[in-house]
Amino acid sequence: MKAKRILSGMQPSGKLHLGNYFGALKNWVSLQDEYECFYFIADWHALSSLYEGPGRIKDFSFEVAIDWLSAGLDPEKCTMFLQSEIPEHAELHLILSMIVPVPWLERNPTYKEKQDEVKNVEMNSYGFLGYPVLQTADIVLYKADFVPVGIDQAPHLELSREIVRRFNKLYKKVFIEPGAKISDVPKLNGVDGRKMSKSYNNAIFLSDNEKEVSKKVQSMLTDPARARRDDPGNPDVCNLYPFHKIYSPKALQDEIAVDCRTAKIGCGDCKKMLSQTMLEGMRPMMEKRQDILTRPDEVKEILREGTLKAQAVAKSTLELAKQAMKLK
Ligand code: TRP
Ligand code: SF4
Repeated sequence: MKAKRILSGMQPSGKLHLGNYFGALKNWVSLQDEYECFYFIADWHALSSLYEGPGRIKDFSFEVAIDWLSAGLDPEKCTMFLQSEIPEHAELHLILSMIVPVPWLERNPTYKEKQDEVKNVEMNSYGFLGYPVLQTADIVLYKADFVPVGIDQAPHLELSREIVRRFNKLYKKVFIEPGAKISDVPKLNGVDGRKMSKSYNNAIFLSDNEKEVSKKVQSMLTDPARARRDDPGNPDVCNLYPFHKIYSPKALQDEIAVDCRTAKIGCGDCKKMLSQTMLEGMRPMMEKRQDILTRPDEVKEILREGTLKAQAVAKSTLELAKQAMKLK
């Protein structure tokens, strides 16, 4: 039996951080072994928020590709490509845009949320409203069975399924309704306790070096009620403890939880231990990055080869869609 197909994309809006890694990328890496995976850099989508300085998108895309490879996406196991290299995405987006009622887009919750979240740039373009239509084109061109996404993207995927049903009903069954593959994401906040985000300046990046990681760990917010060294702390409300849950061995986690509650250790001790286990955990990724950075041309070659493979699939699906509509 043929392996089921996975497709997912990420916007290139800068270097990836641990929130991106544990929220998506780590899952993508493990899916490579079981599924036929297509992963792409959604650089056209990034234009919806970066249209005032679109020149940055090219560099961001390259950074994302390096982050992906460092984190373990393997060109032998998955297909990686850049959205804008495959114009079929734009063409199918246009076709779908003719059958998607605008109210479907207006009631998309992420449309409003994003507008509220992004403060420094106006997010009210025609293209941004149609963001989920382009996203649907991305998915259905590859006849993806599943799309691994964060829970916040679930409404987009439901909309994609609605669009697929509408197309298949109007013309002919060409597309498959994509299922969401929502992974459970460990709760990791930024060093200041707010959601980890590049714009909050509280992120630990996959590309940070050992010194930067240690420094950020030292600066982390802990249990705010633990003002003095002798005050007992509470790991359950501590912003740092979830990092131990990811990076430290279970025995150490348990020991820390007890010693924190009895004030046997201070937050400084706790941070030292975290720095150590975190760096150990991140080291393979750091070493891989150093290796990749010596051969940047190879990264471009990987994307080029991915594009060739992906475009063959995209072309044939677009052809079927046009035939179904009797445009060809
Ligand atoms: N919306 C996704 C994000 O913000 C990126 C994306 C674009 C995507 N097209 C997609 C994700 C198709 C999954 C499938 O990161
Ligand atoms: Fe958090 Fe560790 Fe301090 Fe406890 S000792 S409050 S777990 S940083």
